[in-house]
Amino acid sequence: MIKPHGSDTLNPLFVYDTEKHHQLLKEAEGLPSLLINSAAAANAVMLGAGYFNPLRGYMNLADALSVAETLHTTDGLFWPVPVINLTDDISTIQGASRIALRDPNTEGNPVMAIMDIAAIETVSDEQIQSMAQQIFGTLDPEHPGVATFSGLGNNLISGDIQVLSFSYFQNDFPDTFRTAVEIRNEISERGWEKVVAFQTRNPMHRAHEELCRMAMERLDADGVVVHMLLGKLKKGDIPAPVRDACIRTMVEHYFPKNTVMVTGYGFDMLYAGPREAVLHAVFRQNMGATHLIVGRDHAGVGDYYGAFDAQTIFDDKVPADALDIQIFRADHTAFSKKLGRVVMMNEAEDHEKDDFILLSGTKVRQMLGDGIAPPPEFSRPEVAQILMDYYRSENA
Ligand code: ADX
Repeated sequence: MIKPHGSDTLNPLFVYDTEKHHQLLKEAEGLPSLLINSAAAANAVMLGAGYFNPLRGYMNLADALSVAETLHTTDGLFWPVPVINLTDDISTIQGASRIALRDPNTEGNPVMAIMDIAAIETVSDEQIQSMAQQIFGTLDPEHPGVATFSGLGNNLISGDIQVLSFSYFQNDFPDTFRTAVEIRNEISERGWEKVVAFQTRNPMHRAHEELCRMAMERLDADGVVVHMLLGKLKKGDIPAPVRDACIRTMVEHYFPKNTVMVTGYGFDMLYAGPREAVLHAVFRQNMGATHLIVGRDHAGVGDYYGAFDAQTIFDDKVPADALDIQIFRADHTAFSKKLGRVVMMNEAEDHEKDDFILLSGTKVRQMLGDGIAPPPEFSRPEVAQILMDYYRSENA
């Protein structure tokens, strides 16, 4: 099986030993505590679940700056996006060396991790800006990732953590939320060797579905792991439970049994395009996938990134020996009426090119909101129905 990133075995930071878990929770109640923001909580979930192997906790300033600039920590570990805990208020943890981290996304803010503080460093606004520019490629405050990143605070708290809860993900998505450990185990139980991961934050339309099918056929893979983002998104994106239902229905109706695992991970969308694609590759390797599909405008938003920047970054910024996982590159994919099937546009002849069913996200949302199903060549009827029901309930 493919090795995890940066170590021979996967070392999740969740405390699985029940007795130790109980002890640490008890200890945490007596520790100074910090209410972290959603971005830091999402990092804790990913660290706990083994996706961010081999990291042991939150990065210090030198590592964060180095990762933002060079995609490597100061020790030379390949890593594409700083994994940090930034906050504006450190009054509750002054002088403390061991603290409890509290979950901002669960009522009552329960403890989600214990942290041994290595340092608390002040990050200047210039340093925040410089990291934002490097990660997102823009400083436009309208960019949802830049807006979030710039508002996290100026105190960077670094150090190792032990994770005690997977926040709301495990309760809200019991059938879908999976740790990297669980996915690795399931891949191994199924005896899959060549495994394609599909990242998504959308209900899967025909193009998404066909991308999975094409990757599977062309790579002669044993199976696909659909791995959907379950964390926070920008306004207007479709909520995770609705997407989950669409994806499950589509897989059930249109894929042979036992060829697709429908799973999800607990992380907030960064909208960092190319950088996020590389992060996606790192954590899909950690969960045991051998390939990751990267298509058009992967993890993008608006017009901030070129349609295929998330592919070329693997040529420009990822050293050949940095990752074992491989990228399955897809061109813009759509249904060709002439050919009667979904194709990658670069594989269609010139005379076929004016005959694609192309609908913008805005147009599709508008149709669904009006109770009109997009054409079946764009969206499977079962998926369209779930989406129309969702929009109807939203508009009610
Ligand atoms: S993402 O933000 O999670 O990347 P989305 O769920 O829309 O967004 O896309 C999932 C994957 O499918 C990404 O790799 C994306 O590049 C790819 N993709 C989505 N739609 C298309 C399309 N029409 N053509 C090619 N690739 C696509």
